Amino acid sequence: MNKLIIANWKMNPSTLAEAYALFGSVKKVALLARNTSTVIAPPHVFLQPLASSTRAKRLQFAAQNIHFAKSGSQVGEVSASQVKDVGASMVLIGHSARRRSGETEEDINKKIETALEEKLIPVVFVGERERDAHGTFLRTLRKQITIALEGIKINKVKNIVFVYEPVWAISTNKTNGDGQEITANDIHKMVLFLQKTIAELYGLPIARKVRVLYGGSVNAQNISSVLSVPRIDGAVVGAASLDAAEFRAILQVANKTR
Ligand code: PGA
Repeated sequence: MNKLIIANWKMNPSTLAEAYALFGSVKKVALLARNTSTVIAPPHVFLQPLASSTRAKRLQFAAQNIHFAKSGSQVGEVSASQVKDVGASMVLIGHSARRRSGETEEDINKKIETALEEKLIPVVFVGERERDAHGTFLRTLRKQITIALEGIKINKVKNIVFVYEPVWAISTNKTNGDGQEITANDIHKMVLFLQKTIAELYGLPIARKVRVLYGGSVNAQNISSVLSVPRIDGAVVGAASLDAAEFRAILQVANKTR
């Protein structure tokens, strides 16, 4: 299956002109990368202009969030059908930055349900804030996965993409250069743990169909090591996706990885 590379632009760039420029300088490489599916997750306001300029099977768009309600009086929120209508085919759900600003496991579960109903692919982030010697972080992860999937019908689960993104490994959370680095082996263990947890809920054949990505300081230097992890289907790229040359390099490596 094609590698899936998601550019999480977060609250960047500052203007639509810059968004067009950034998109314009990665578009060609993304469209030429036969073995890679590239997904751009821009701020909501840039979704429509970018998605209406180019959209292809290999180059798609994700919203960074939705509200779980289908419509209503939620001031300042956007709905699944709205982001879908302006060009998103996926939606990021449960990113640690949103969890930090109050999103609960239950909210995440409801958002996944709404996204699936609207035929948007939910890209669900799970990951521990820190690691402890006793392995409590595994319990955290299991809880995140279990609540996220509560009530989700077995025939829908394969449409969900999970991202294992340890909060401590995100580039902007590393306050100085001596931050912990995750190894390919650690990522592999966590992918297996994620798969096992899904298998306990839905059985192994379903768990095997769920795509799992890694996120956290992915860049042009480490992308090949990340994608060499067995069972990894791709990566979420934050800071490095804002640098067009670096993101192009990431796509080129991904495209060569089988
Ligand atoms: P990063 O961000 O690649 O800058 O670490 C990833 C993310 O937060 O999704």
